[in-house]
Amino acid sequence: MIAAPQAVESPLTRAAIFIVVTVKPDEAALETVRKVCGGMASLIRAVGFRNPDAQLSCVMGIGANLWDRLGQPNRPQGLHPFRAIHGVYDAPSTRGDILLHIRAQRVDYCFEMAMQVMRQLGEAVELQDETAGFKYFDNRDLLGFVDGTENPAGQDLDAAVVIGDEDPDFAGGAYVITQKYMHDLAKWNALPVETQERIIGRHKLSDIEFPDDKKAPYAHNVLTNIDDAEGRQLQILRDNMPFGSPSRGEFGTYFIGYACEPGRIERMLDNMFIGDPPGTYDRILDVSTAVTGNLFFVPSADLLEALGDGPGDVPDNSGNGGADDDNAPARSRDGSLGIGSLKGGN
Ligand code: HEM
Repeated sequence: MIAAPQAVESPLTRAAIFIVVTVKPDEAALETVRKVCGGMASLIRAVGFRNPDAQLSCVMGIGANLWDRLGQPNRPQGLHPFRAIHGVYDAPSTRGDILLHIRAQRVDYCFEMAMQVMRQLGEAVELQDETAGFKYFDNRDLLGFVDGTENPAGQDLDAAVVIGDEDPDFAGGAYVITQKYMHDLAKWNALPVETQERIIGRHKLSDIEFPDDKKAPYAHNVLTNIDDAEGRQLQILRDNMPFGSPSRGEFGTYFIGYACEPGRIERMLDNMFIGDPPGTYDRILDVSTAVTGNLFFVPSADLLEALGDGPGDVPDNSGNGGADDDNAPARSRDGSLGIGSLKGGN
C-alpha cells in the first residue's frame, strides 16, 4: 500500500499562512527540526481537533539542502534547489529549507498552528518569509479573475500530485513550488477588461474559458497548458492566495503548485518567463514581479514522521500516517494539549 500523503489535496480554504524558513547550521538545530517532523501529525490534531469545520491542515515541505543534511540514505528523484529563470522577466531562486503551508477556513486556526509550530522550531530556524493569504470574494485573485477553476479533481488529482511507483522509496510524497508575486495593480487596472481577458484566456465576470481558437498565443492558460509526449495534459494542483497591505500599496498573489514531479511546473514557468516560442511570454508578468522562488519535497505523512527518528530511517509504507508518537512535542505527557495560555507555554 502506498504511504499516506500529507494533506496536499485538502480542500481550498478561506485562509492560509505560508512560512519559509532556513535551518541553522548546527546539529542541535537539525535535531529540533527532526522532532518537529516527527510530531507534526500530532500537532495538527491537537490544534485542529477542537473544530473539524475549520478544516485545519499543514503541509511541511523540505528543500534540497536540508534534505541532504538530514542524513537520509537517498534523495527523492526530482529534488533540487529551485532553478532561477532569466527570460523576458526573471524568476529568482531564494533561500528556503522548510515550507509550512497552513490552511484553514478560519484565520485563527492558521494563526494558532503557525504560532505553535514556530514556537517548536524556535531558535533552530531563521525566517525567510511569512505571507498570510485570504480568499477574495468568489475565489478571485487580486487581478479580479477566478483562480483555481481548472485544478484537477478525483483520480486525476492523485495522478497529478502524488508520487507513485516511479520513485518507490518516496511514494506518497509530492513536490511543491512556491513563488511570491507582487502586482502593479494600478497598471493592471488601467488595462481594458478585454485586454485582461486575453491575457488570462477567460472571461472576467463569468470565468468562462475562451474557445481555443480565440485564445491569444500568450494567454496564461495557453502557456501553462502542457502535454507529455503522448499528448496527455500534465496537470498540477494550485492553491494560490491573494495577500497584501492596502495602506502600503502592496498587492500580491502567492503561487503554490503541487505535482508528482517538478519538471512540469518548471516547464510552465519557462513558458511564462521565457515564452513559448521564446518571446511569447505571459503578459501577467508585465504587472507581476516574482520576488521569491522555492522548490520543496513533501514527504508522505509516514516518512515525515519517520524523519523524527533520526538519520537513515526507512519510510514506513504501511499507510498508518498519524499514529501516536510519544515524542510529539505538542502533546504533553498528561494528555493535555499543552497549547494556549492554559499551559502558559507561549
Ligand atoms: C501572478 C501569478 C498568477 C496568477 C495571478 C494566476 C492566475 C490564474 C488564473 C486566473 C487562472 C485561470 C483559472 C484557473 O484555471 O485557475 C490560472 C490558470 C492556471 N495557472 Fe495561473 N496564475 C499565476 C501563476 C501561475 C504559475 C506560476 C503557474 C505555473 C507555474 C500557473 C499555472 C496555471 C495553470 C496550470 C492553470 C490552468 C490552465 C488551464 O489548463 O486552463 N499559474 N492562473
